[in-house]
Amino acid sequence: MPRRPPRKPDPRLDLSAHLLPLVALPDPFDPASVFPTDAPVELEVGSGKGLFLSSAAAAAPERNFLGIEIAPGYARMIAGRLANAGLVNARIIQGDAGFLVGSLLPDACLAGMHVYFPDPWWKARHRKRRVLSEPFLLQAGRTLAPGSVLHVWTDVEEYFLEAMAAARATGLFGEPRVEEPTAPAHDLDYRTHFERRTRLAGMPVWRAALERSSVPSPVPRVTSSPQARTSGPPARPPATDSEPADRAAPPPASDSGP
Ligand SMILES: C[S@@+](CC[C@H](N)C(=O)[O-])C[C@H]1O[C@@H](n2cnc3c(N)ncnc32)[C@H](O)[C@@H]1O
Repeated sequence: MPRRPPRKPDPRLDLSAHLLPLVALPDPFDPASVFPTDAPVELEVGSGKGLFLSSAAAAAPERNFLGIEIAPGYARMIAGRLANAGLVNARIIQGDAGFLVGSLLPDACLAGMHVYFPDPWWKARHRKRRVLSEPFLLQAGRTLAPGSVLHVWTDVEEYFLEAMAAARATGLFGEPRVEEPTAPAHDLDYRTHFERRTRLAGMPVWRAALERSSVPSPVPRVTSSPQARTSGPPARPPATDSEPADRAAPPPASDSGP
């Protein structure tokens, strides 16, 4: 099912407090610095339409929620949603999560991380674009405080198993704990838009919570060049607001080769 173009926010809304361009962030970037309170900060990678960010921020005002979304139109849509709801404990960054996590965030600055329904990049030659790779998970482990939790949910079993193996290989997380779905109390009572879509279609979802152990991170923050901020991860096309062509369904066997 193709993704509709993002809804444009009401032009009368001031998005400046909620929408943060990655290119404008300092290096290093203390995520607590963009919130009015010093509460623990949780990061969501690939926020899509912003359902998780807005509902988590409304449900837990004692925590701060930062999202990062690479598609500019979706990032604006999320900022509109957060501004409209008057949520002071949620912000969205427009840019590449790999750069934010690998190069800008200091060690142990996050109290949680959420990766919901990351793009699967089905074709073998596109696999290197998957967000949940071992190098990303090493950097995620570096930025997460001991005892904090990384949540990974997806509708792609093969990607889920690959991500769990990569997380284990980092040596920074405990064994995955299965997260159980809850019965929705209303039409938008899902963790994310993609969870809603997948469950309403009767398809399975794989969910895990991985606790960051106290093992010290073996990797340092990656020193960045100013160019890296705008170019995104290697071998990735420019970010657009359309769904990747291979998002919705696995390719036929003949389409999976390089
Ligand atoms: C399949 S959608 C899932 C959206 C949302 N998490 C949900 O479950 O409804 C994946 C999202 O991740 C975003 N994304 C992909 N790669 C990214 C990256 N490197 N940095 C930030 N966002 C990214 C895409 O633009 C897209 O909005």
